[in-house]
Amino acid sequence: MKIAIIGGTGDQGLGLALRFVKSGEHVIVGSRDIKKAENAVKLIKDMLNDENLPNLSAMTNEDATTNGDIVVLTVPLQAQMITLKSIKEYVQGKIFVDATVPLEGCIGGKPTRFVDLWEGSAAERSAAFLGNDVRVVSAFCNLSAASLTNINEDVECDCLISGDDSQANAIVMELAEKISGVRSIECGPLENARIVEKITPLLINLNIRNRIKLAGIRITGL
Ligand SMILES: NC(=O)c1ccc[n+]([C@@H]2O[C@H](COP(=O)([O-])OP(=O)(O)OC[C@H]3O[C@@H](n4cnc5c(N)ncnc54)[C@H](OP(=O)(O)O)[C@@H]3O)[C@@H](O)[C@H]2O)c1
Repeated sequence: MKIAIIGGTGDQGLGLALRFVKSGEHVIVGSRDIKKAENAVKLIKDMLNDENLPNLSAMTNEDATTNGDIVVLTVPLQAQMITLKSIKEYVQGKIFVDATVPLEGCIGGKPTRFVDLWEGSAAERSAAFLGNDVRVVSAFCNLSAASLTNINEDVECDCLISGDDSQANAIVMELAEKISGVRSIECGPLENARIVEKITPLLINLNIRNRIKLAGIRITGL
């Protein structure tokens, strides 16, 4: 499986790319700008201290989507729709993972506050736009970039996964558990992304209040 990370040059995308490459997955870092994607690939190689990573490549978002089997979106809310428009024709028939969190910071407010979207969640917004031939899964919303890039430590966070296609959910759950320390938990249909996405501003709040960077969430009793 090739994993295309759209907006893979940013904090979250780069962190996911780093973890997946480290676990031996084939990753394509996508960007609007191929030079930016190539720089991100170089940074990942430097961080992993390995100049020879045949399972890592750089492409434009469009080419990454075409060549990926699983497409992961890691752009801020204000870039979600324009990015979806640019890749819509190439993502048809694939699994699309949405990590977008609708934070008020995206419209000039606080990152500790959530903004409501008409569709109910960012993941449902993607699903409504991309159409029925794309299997949309919400995942990675609560995993912080700080934990993902803290490469020598496990990520102390459960990955809460919501989606309407159980086979796609299972594939993404398996992928998430490639990240050392992460346990995947299936949370039901895509509409539950409304709840999961809202946990992230709470974690950001806890980071700020406690002057830390690595707040995560664990579900007990399962
Ligand atoms: N950071 C975290 O700890 C974290 C944790 C959980 C979830 N998330 C979610 O993951 C997503 C990405 O977060 P992030 O912190 O990685 O974001 P980011 O660093 O601000 O941006 C990620 C990438 O998105 C692209 N982008 C930014 N603005 C754009 C625009 N106006 N139009 C088109 N593309 C644009 C850029 O890629 P190119 O310029 O290369 O195209 C950028 O490198 C967000 O929705 C966030 O809520 C983040």
